[in-house]
Amino acid sequence: MPNMVVLISGSGSNLQRLIDTQDEHGMKISLVISNRADAYGLQRAKQHGINSKVLSHKDYSDRSTYDQALAQLIKSEQPDLVVLAGFMRILTPELVNQFLGRMINIHPSLLPKYPGLNTHARALEAGDEHHGCTVHFVIPKLDAGPNIAQARLRILASDNANSLQQRVHQLEHQLYPQVVAWFAQDKLQMNAEQSWLDGQPLKPQGRVFDYS
Ligand code: GRF
Repeated sequence: MPNMVVLISGSGSNLQRLIDTQDEHGMKISLVISNRADAYGLQRAKQHGINSKVLSHKDYSDRSTYDQALAQLIKSEQPDLVVLAGFMRILTPELVNQFLGRMINIHPSLLPKYPGLNTHARALEAGDEHHGCTVHFVIPKLDAGPNIAQARLRILASDNANSLQQRVHQLEHQLYPQVVAWFAQDKLQMNAEQSWLDGQPLKPQGRVFDYS
């Protein structure tokens, strides 16, 4: 069975879904890494007998030395895939370049719209008709790697940032296991900063699942 390392900083509800759908997507989670000792996702891993480690950024003098230690820890598992699931750290190019085509992230917006934080409030403020989440390959530039897939919904007149965040989170839980399954089945690659699925280049938005 191919294996993956999952990086978290917080609640880990995406991690939970990846644990619960392990039989469907076919990737073993060999290690969960958190930069925060109080991340609830660590409890989730323990409850399911999955190895976890805390690597606190506070124990390192700068980003570069932290990322060197992080890269070593990830590599010790020889993972087929590295999954960022709410890992709230900007990664150095030196780290990212070691895992090109094997590291994915989930982001709560329809990238390239709204990289960074406060995505739900920004989509509302802009008066967007649609919002959603994106899974993309990680490249050195933040939230800018080629899209693999998006799940989108229609913004309702009654939505606020909180309700949108919750509705998008539900979509994340559908989307991430699907993308991991493609990777496990060897259907998904990154070539020349473009995502390919089933031997075909994907459109810039990736494969779109429309829930609107
Ligand atoms: C998600 O909204 C994800 O898109 C973002 O961080 C959040 C993690 O949520 N990158 P959880 O910890 O998986 O519940």
